Amino acid sequence: MFNKPDSCIGVGINFRSEISENIISNINKFDFIEINTERFFVGENNARLNQLVDLIPIVLHGLTLSIGTEKQNIPASYLDNLSRTLEKINCPWFSEHIAITNVNGIEIRALMPVEFTPESVQTIVNNAKKVMSLTNKPFLLENITYYYSMPTSNMSEVSFLKEIVEKADCGILLDLNNLYVNSINHKYDPYEFLNQLPLERVVEIHLAGCNYIHGMLVDTHATSIRKEVLSLFNYVCQKTLINGVAIERDDKLNNFSDLINEVQVVRDILKSNKQIKQ
Ligand SMILES: [Fe+2]
Repeated sequence: MFNKPDSCIGVGINFRSEISENIISNINKFDFIEINTERFFVGENNARLNQLVDLIPIVLHGLTLSIGTEKQNIPASYLDNLSRTLEKINCPWFSEHIAITNVNGIEIRALMPVEFTPESVQTIVNNAKKVMSLTNKPFLLENITYYYSMPTSNMSEVSFLKEIVEKADCGILLDLNNLYVNSINHKYDPYEFLNQLPLERVVEIHLAGCNYIHGMLVDTHATSIRKEVLSLFNYVCQKTLINGVAIERDDKLNNFSDLINEVQVVRDILKSNKQIKQ
C-alpha cells in the first residue's frame, strides 16, 4: 500500500551548477533543492553540491533510468549506484520520468515518450518494482511532454498513467506545466485529466515555464510559470495534500530574483489552501 508522506516540505527549485552560488547565498529562500540523482553516481567533485546536502533537504530526481525501455534490464550498475545514493542522501522521496532515455545501451540524452499501451504499462511497472525493492522511500513517476502521438498507442494518456501508478503502487510527480503543454498541443481538457487521476498519489508537483516555438507549445523551462499552470496548481491544492513543489528553471537564469519571487507566489498558493502555515 502506497504510503504518502503526511506533511508538506514546501517549495524548492532544481539545482544547476550555473546558479549554485546564488542558491547557497539565498538558501533561506528555499525549503528544499531538487538534484538530479545521477550527479551522485559519478562522485562529482562538486564542493557546492556537498555543501547543499548539509544545508537543506534534498529531493532526488532521476534522468537516465529509462524506465520505458522494453526487453532490456536496468543495468546492475545503475541499481547499485541508485541504492548507494539513496543510503547516502537523506531524501524524503525520489523520482524518475516515464520515458525512454536509452536504446540498445546508447544514452540518447533526451526524454523520449513511450507508447501508451498495456505492454508498455507492464514494462514500466516491472522496472518500477525493481527500483522500489531497493528502499522503503516513496518512489514517484513523472508525466512528461510529448510532441507527437505514438501511432501504436491504444490507451489514453491519463488511463496509461493511472494504470502504471496503481499497478506499481507508487506515487506521482505531477508536472503541471507538462500537463498544460500536452493539453494545448494534443487538444484535451487538463482539468478532466486531473479528475481522472488518483490525486491521492500525488506527492510532488513540478511547475515551470513554456513558450510557443513554431506554433507548438514547448516545455522550455526558460520563463515564468503561466497563470493557467498556477490555476491548475491551485485546483490540485484544493483536492489533495501536496508534499512539495519544485519550480524547474533550466535556461534564462540570469534574473535569479525572478525565481525567488516565483517561489513566494507558489508558497502563497500553498498557504491559501492551508497546505503550509508560514
Ligand atoms: Fe518536470
